[in-house]
Amino acid sequence: MALERKDLLGLRDVSAREIEEILDAAKTLRGILEQNTKKTPHLQGTSIVTLFYENSTRTRMSFELASKYMSAASANISSAVSSVAKGETLIDTGRTLDRMGTDLIVIRHPMSGAPHLLAKHVRASVINAGDGMNEHPTQALLDMFTMREHKGGLRGLTVAIVGDVAHSRVARSNIWGLRTMGAEVRVCGPSTLIPDEMEKLGVHVTASVEEAVEGVDVVMGLRLQLERQQAGLLPSLYEYANFFAIDERVLRLAKKDALIMHPGPLNRGVEITSAAADEERSVINEQVTGGVAVRMALLYLLTRRKYERAAD
Ligand code: CP
Repeated sequence: MALERKDLLGLRDVSAREIEEILDAAKTLRGILEQNTKKTPHLQGTSIVTLFYENSTRTRMSFELASKYMSAASANISSAVSSVAKGETLIDTGRTLDRMGTDLIVIRHPMSGAPHLLAKHVRASVINAGDGMNEHPTQALLDMFTMREHKGGLRGLTVAIVGDVAHSRVARSNIWGLRTMGAEVRVCGPSTLIPDEMEKLGVHVTASVEEAVEGVDVVMGLRLQLERQQAGLLPSLYEYANFFAIDERVLRLAKKDALIMHPGPLNRGVEITSAAADEERSVINEQVTGGVAVRMALLYLLTRRKYERAAD
């Protein structure tokens, strides 16, 4: 069991068969999280570095815990305490890690395409943990994992993605992944936060949250990315919340058993109300647990390649 690729940089070029393989492996490995002693030898002898140039709680911690639970040698570098602060380039940083015997690098970077550049210049496998406004493939995989656990499959599901689509790498990766898996996707937000090319990706675009959510299986809120907003895109947070917040009124339009999802971190009272985030159909906390399982699966499947090739 291994993925026939060196890196995971986005879901745009990942097949349905590969997505199924990752989700199946995550389902098996999730059992480790329920054991009293969370330790397996799956990644013994493997070294993993997480390289974060942007803030993160969920993604960074889940990769670090996944590495530790599976007995890898793991270390974290954040840009503030690395030689990047002294002017070292990303390629030089990557080559330095390569020479230390790193097998896999997990990178989050504010520039779209940074993981792709790194992957071209290092021997180690590279996983994109979020690059600018481009992709966040492991988030979309854990979202699909959570949907599949509850709905039994992805084909035929209708998913509404509501909010700041323009700045959302989570939306982009979910659109690629869900479309590949045969789900229907609707996106909704203010016209200033919906990129022109969205319809070309095969999704239904609407500025009406009611139209987006009507009869869907999944309502996914997106974080309003306050740190990436340019002036003039939004009149005010109050008006944004008034028209686009996921609240109890909007959720009544979705299917009775619709899942409420959000990648986190939440801006409560802006893109989602606390009542909606905490209601019984919300699987936001389950997404976090699924995130550890999916990242365990990816670390395992990408590093196995090396051992399986060596055994051939
Ligand atoms: N969803 C997500 O990427 O969260 P973090 O920024 O906390 O990693």
